[in-house]
Amino acid sequence: MTDLAQWLSAQTDDADLGKAILSMAAAGAEIAAVLREAPIAGQTGLAGSDNVQGEAQKALDVISNDIVLNHLEANAAISILVSEELDEAVELSSQGRLIVATDPLDGSSNLDLNVTVGTIFSVLANAGGPLQKGRAQLAAGYVAYGPATSLVVRIEGPTSIFNLSDRGEWVQTVADAKVPAASGEFAINTARERFWDAATTGYVRENIAGETGPAGKRYNMRWVGSMVADVHRILMRGGVFLYPLDSETVTKGGRLRLLYEANPMAWLVQGAGGRSTTGTQDILEVEPVDIHQRVPVILGSADEVKRVEEWYERE
Ligand code: AHG
Ligand code: MN
Ligand code: MN
Ligand code: MN
Repeated sequence: MTDLAQWLSAQTDDADLGKAILSMAAAGAEIAAVLREAPIAGQTGLAGSDNVQGEAQKALDVISNDIVLNHLEANAAISILVSEELDEAVELSSQGRLIVATDPLDGSSNLDLNVTVGTIFSVLANAGGPLQKGRAQLAAGYVAYGPATSLVVRIEGPTSIFNLSDRGEWVQTVADAKVPAASGEFAINTARERFWDAATTGYVRENIAGETGPAGKRYNMRWVGSMVADVHRILMRGGVFLYPLDSETVTKGGRLRLLYEANPMAWLVQGAGGRSTTGTQDILEVEPVDIHQRVPVILGSADEVKRVEEWYERE
């Protein structure tokens, strides 16, 4: 059995980086316990406040953010925390070498439904400040709170998966996750079709046309509405996730956030042999200008992402 601490010491000599990941794993284990009790404790509702992006915060968005903040405050390696639920970057240890950007609770619109939600995180070097390209990430990961609590994490090498045991240990279950290059599954919110651009419409129409259409095979569509759940499915069995720029999100630059949703997921998917793009550029090459900046997100099985990129090249 390989546990998280053993894996970290084999993956990196940077003890601070290992500690940052252990802090996020510990926060994830604590959030998992809170989520398990939340329906009984009556915590699945609204907090009564909005975050900086104008989203109504759920009580559990705020609780999860506080849990992450507490774990990182206790970690002298962390200099700055960027969070979906915090308007500004928060300064922590003045000696810290690392920045963490997090979506403390992803998929929080699903909280009263008992479907998978998650915590996403990205680790950056303090020297570059919070506004660094995804390519500069030192590590990234997410915790998926589903039937099992899974931690998916990558430093520079493989994307590895750990599961939280009843005894509170993170036990490695997949050493080197691989997103199959070919897939017959796509994930997009099809209720937004009227807002789509020509590339998205073209790609999805080809898929729906099935075996007699230009794609030459039958496709399935799956959409949970929690990015962590949708990306986790794609990491385990392939597929493509799309939240493209559309005519409604164009003024904001997209729907999903670059620093703590798109970049960490792109880092994990690329470590597993998949691809990521905004449509016209690798997500990991996007130069951030704002900590809460949004970006179009297309990622998953390499062959499918390439097909979407070809559609954008035709435009
Ligand atoms: P969050 O709950 O952290 O605000 O993120 C929600 C995101 C993401 O999880 C999901 O893929 C997307 O919102 C779903 O958007 P739609 O409601 O437009 O389908
Ligand atoms: Mn939100
Ligand atoms: Mn999210
Ligand atoms: Mn969130």
